[in-house]
Amino acid sequence: MREYDLIADWFPTDRGRTVGVAEALALAAPLPAHSRILDVGCGNGVPVSEALVNAGYRVVALDSSAGMLDHFRRNLPGAPIVRGDARRCPFVGGAFDAAISMGMLFHLSRADQALAFASVSRVLKPGAPFLFTGAEIEDADDAGITGTMNGVTFHYYAVPSYRMLAAEHGMELVDVQDDPGVATYYLSRKSS
Ligand SMILES: C[S@@+](CC[C@H](N)C(=O)[O-])C[C@H]1O[C@@H](n2cnc3c(N)ncnc32)[C@H](O)[C@@H]1O
Repeated sequence: MREYDLIADWFPTDRGRTVGVAEALALAAPLPAHSRILDVGCGNGVPVSEALVNAGYRVVALDSSAGMLDHFRRNLPGAPIVRGDARRCPFVGGAFDAAISMGMLFHLSRADQALAFASVSRVLKPGAPFLFTGAEIEDADDAGITGTMNGVTFHYYAVPSYRMLAAEHGMELVDVQDDPGVATYYLSRKSS
């Protein structure tokens, strides 16, 4: 994403050092050691990919911003990185035991979020979990809520919209946890 090339140097000064770590580790905890986890819109890898790598998981990092991936490469030199688009994940079907996407999906329009769901679902193994963040907007209508943050557009939708989006792409929304003012974590799971 071009906007993130422009803010790649600044981003670490703004990004919370712990946000999303506990949630990502909780997602991974039931998985076998060395499971392969896709980080969709990985950014610079700190702190979430970093925590998963340190816990022994094999993280594959996907991001569309060359600038963010430059930082990722420096932060986590051993982890495989791929520059690509979440709407067209460039991996074979069923390649991953789990996927996470922190702070990424809401940059996409509703139609593009649907493409990203379809794409992530395709590369997950049956039964694999997918944890993503959005916002819990109780009273948003189907059109959701659109705004800008740091010059980047975001689109938030209500929980039922995410539930429907997941279901339309072979996944079930199994849990929603709100960290008020920080993030809302949506845990979904690909059908077995
Ligand atoms: C707010 S940052 C979050 C980065 C990281 N996940 C974190 O938690 O710190 C959003 C990231 O999503 C990436 N991104 C946005 N749209 C994307 C797309 N369509 N495909 C892949 N990455 C995308 C941006 O380049 C950026 O690195």
